Amino acid sequence: MADLSVDLAGIDTPNPFWLASGPPTNTYGQVARAFDLGWGGAVWKTVGEPIINTYSRYGGVNLGTQRMMGFNNIELISDRPIADNLREIALLKKRYPRHAVIVSLMVESRREVWQDVVRRTEDTGCDGIELNFGCPHGMSERGMGSAVGQVPDYACQIVEWVKEVATRPVIVKLTPNVTDVTYIARAARSGGADALSLINTINSIMAVDLDTFFPHPHVAGKGSHGGYCGPAVKPIALNMVSAVAADPRVRLPVSGIGGIQSWRDAAEFIALGATTVQVCTAVMHYGFRLVEDLIDGLSNWMDEKGYARLEDWRGRALPGITSWENLDLNYRTIAVIDQAKCIHCGLCYVACEDGAHQAIALLRDPERTALGADAPSDRVNGGAWRWHVQVIEQACVGCNLCSLVCPVAGCITMQEVPTGQPPVSWKEYAAGTGRLAVRPEHYVPVA
Ligand SMILES: Cc1cc2nc3c(=O)[nH]c(=O)nc-3n(C[C@H](O)[C@H](O)[C@H](O)COP(=O)(O)O)c2cc1C
Ligand code: SF4
Ligand code: SF4
Repeated sequence: MADLSVDLAGIDTPNPFWLASGPPTNTYGQVARAFDLGWGGAVWKTVGEPIINTYSRYGGVNLGTQRMMGFNNIELISDRPIADNLREIALLKKRYPRHAVIVSLMVESRREVWQDVVRRTEDTGCDGIELNFGCPHGMSERGMGSAVGQVPDYACQIVEWVKEVATRPVIVKLTPNVTDVTYIARAARSGGADALSLINTINSIMAVDLDTFFPHPHVAGKGSHGGYCGPAVKPIALNMVSAVAADPRVRLPVSGIGGIQSWRDAAEFIALGATTVQVCTAVMHYGFRLVEDLIDGLSNWMDEKGYARLEDWRGRALPGITSWENLDLNYRTIAVIDQAKCIHCGLCYVACEDGAHQAIALLRDPERTALGADAPSDRVNGGAWRWHVQVIEQACVGCNLCSLVCPVAGCITMQEVPTGQPPVSWKEYAAGTGRLAVRPEHYVPVA
């Protein structure tokens, strides 16, 4: 079995799967149960000045039968007294010496307040500290959370204050609510951060009830923007993790967060450079036992591929991510329809005709057409289909749309077509050093 243990900036953890700071890490009992089931580490629900939460606080977006495809909250940091949290953390660390216990912190932006809470937190024996520079709601209005994480100078300053007294690794948790996450990552590095974690939640309004006009979730009819997370945010998180992991001015270990609910999701974050991954919404949805699938799935896949350790393949996907101007303009693909699998739903035709490049022909079977264009069913008397779809190769721009809408797995595949020309990027083409292959005629001019 593959060795899943890792070390993030000096924090040893038996596997890369950590609970993210949130409701599942609110108490000793929860985290102890999670460790017993296999989680390698936990970032304690953010500790700070005790606060008051609203009674309604979560919202969800469903997609078909998938509940909570997106999730949001207007919850604040821990509403338990700091002393209670710290006492339980000390107990936890004593009972689970080999697991990673990280404490998320958020306090007023003053040097003595930060240094005091860091000292008290380290007295628990925790393995590291995570600075919550990410919460987009509630705390930001009080000058904390994303109010700090959106301003590089503030972020750098607070990391410096913390590093003056911290003896354990300091992880800075970044907000995605910025135009370019690498600016804040660089600022955290300048302040002396040992590692980064991302992403925290994304600003959102989940829905509006059209009978009451109340937002969802609402508190006595009023709502507030909240933090979005869950499977829907994974692509945003992957992009930000890869941007930070690839930035030569950052060069810090990363804990990847955002929409992880399967071992494959986790593996994608690791392939883009993450050392550990953190999970919140999926645990709120499916419970701590999720970790059994995460561990089994990842280690089985690594065994199959012949990887003994996570280091053997971490970051392997990073070189494949580049800027648009470096992509090969002579790489050509077209859609290919497997007629034997087609169920003649016509979705690909409509999508390509109205939303793409009019490169799918709807061909009528001449024999069946003779039965009348108005025949009620596409299939006549259980016999052959009256029409079928066919890709017009010279018009297809290989955009993928038809393959994305086709409901039958493997029915439309995108296949490479050699152009006979060597690769050429936009950069080379614009500099006059490369030749473009013949490109598809994708529209017909109106006379
Ligand atoms: C209800 C809820 C409360 C959260 N509370 C915190 C918190 O106190 N501190 C923090 O750093 N992140 C908090 N988060 C953010 C998560 O740690 C995580 O960054 C985010 O949810 C994305 O991961 P996910 O898609 O796996 O949930 C919270 C998230 C949720 C859903
Ligand atoms: S790949 Fe795009 S252009 Fe080609 S057939 Fe499909 S939808 Fe049309
Ligand atoms: S979407 Fe797929 S199944 Fe439907 S007509 Fe097109 S190829 Fe056939």
